[in-house]
Formats: sequence, C-alpha cells, structure tokens
Amino acid sequence: MTAIEHSTQVVLGGTRGGPEVSTLRQDRWWIQPVITVAVLTSFVIYATWAAFQKGNYFVGNFGAHELISPFDSPCLTATCGDAQIFHTGLGLAWLPPALLILIFPLGFRMTCYYYRRSYYRAFWWAPPACGVADAHGSYSGETRFPLIIQNVHRYFFYFGLVFNVLLTYDAIRAFHVVGGGWGISVGSLVLTLNATLLWLYSLSCHACRHLCGGQVRSFHDHPIRHKLWKFVTPLNAKHMNFAWASLVVVALTDVYVRLVASGSIRDLVIF
Ligand code: FES
Repeated sequence: MTAIEHSTQVVLGGTRGGPEVSTLRQDRWWIQPVITVAVLTSFVIYATWAAFQKGNYFVGNFGAHELISPFDSPCLTATCGDAQIFHTGLGLAWLPPALLILIFPLGFRMTCYYYRRSYYRAFWWAPPACGVADAHGSYSGETRFPLIIQNVHRYFFYFGLVFNVLLTYDAIRAFHVVGGGWGISVGSLVLTLNATLLWLYSLSCHACRHLCGGQVRSFHDHPIRHKLWKFVTPLNAKHMNFAWASLVVVALTDVYVRLVASGSIRDLVIF
C-alpha cells in the first residue's frame, strides 16, 4: 500500500465535529480509547471497593514481613491497629483509613497532564484520537470552571512526593520480619517495585520538569537546575509508560497485601 493511500485529508479552519464522530483514518484508532476506558474504569471500581474496606490492608503478625497496602498508608485512623502511625484522637474508628488519604494520590493522577489527555479522549471524545472529529461542537478547553481546576496539578505533585517518601519507608520496612531480623519476601519486592514506579511516575511529571528547568532564560547561571532538568527530561519522555505501569502495580500491590492479610495466600519468603 502506498503512502498516498494512507494519507488523511486535512481541512484547516473547519468547524469542530458534532454529534457524529467521523474520520478518514482507516487504522484501528479506537483501540487506544477502548483500552483507556477499560483500564481506568476497572481501576476506579477496584479502588472504590478497596477504599471502603476496614481490614486486611496490613500484615504484622509474628514472623511475617510487615506489609501495608499503598491505598492505606499512612494509616491514620483509629481502625489501623498495629499499622497505625498516628492516632487522630477524633474517634474515627468508623472511617476506613484509605478514605482519609486517597484524595491526594487520586487528585495527583486525575489532574495529571497525560491522564487528562487520555480520559478527555476516551470518555468525552474531545477528540477521541488525532485526525478524528470531535464529538462536541464547541470547546472551551481548561480556561473556565470546572476544568480550570486542573491547574492545581502542581500542588498535588508536592503531596505526591510526600506519599512517595512514606511508601518508600513502607517498602524498606517490608524487609523487616516482625519479631526480629531482616530478609526478602515476595511482598517486600512487590512494595519496592510499587515505590520505585511511583517515584518514576512523579519524577517524570511535567510539573516536575518545569520545576527543575522552567522559567530559566539560560542554564548557564543555573548549573544545578540544568543537571536536574537533564536528569528528569528522559524520564519525562516515558511519562505515559510510568503512568500506566504505576497505576496497575499500585492496584496489584493492594491485591497482594489483601490476599496475604486475609490468609488466602502466604507471603513467599525468599530468604
Ligand atoms: S503530568 Fe502526569 S503526574 Fe504530572
């Protein structure tokens, strides 16, 4: 097939789509939006279910590796038992710990530039893909309420860093065996993988790259910022990969901890 047969006609200055989505593209452009809807919907359903659970998010019995679900760390409410690092003293025994903290990691992801592109395309079809007509006749972008709120992303980025530190602490603690000693189990490796991917996701964030190298006329006078910018720029190019990998792994980490905590499986000790 020649390049001309693959070409797509472009009309500049035309009107935005309308109720019917049309395109001259003949490839399977719809696969990406379909996968996005499937993965994000599955994650939201699972995370909502997990957030309302008041147990099985912590493994702390004698002789076991200490494991805590990333959805419930830091464990702040009165229901946390041994996992509790801070008792709020507010009588929050009725409150699942995840409900107190999930707003920050979820806010970070919801306002992520990459996820915004993905869910605007997949759920709102605005537009569904490059070269495919918009499903809406008008477009105001993120210039007014409610989407202008997406600009808080940089602040969620700072909160995300705090959670990364806490989850890194949890990963290190997962190598500790309750009752004494250190070792490696599948659970400790799972928590380490999760913390690593979350750091990669945060460090590849566009707000992070801007923080390192933004609003600088010349790097000549800012050698440290130049080094930081050079470090995060290649990561930034892979932000999409880190976004999906960290999303899937954070959910699977919660699943793993729940299965061990409920006694459905044993945390396999490597040594
Ligand atoms: S742009 Fe995706 S986390 Fe900041």
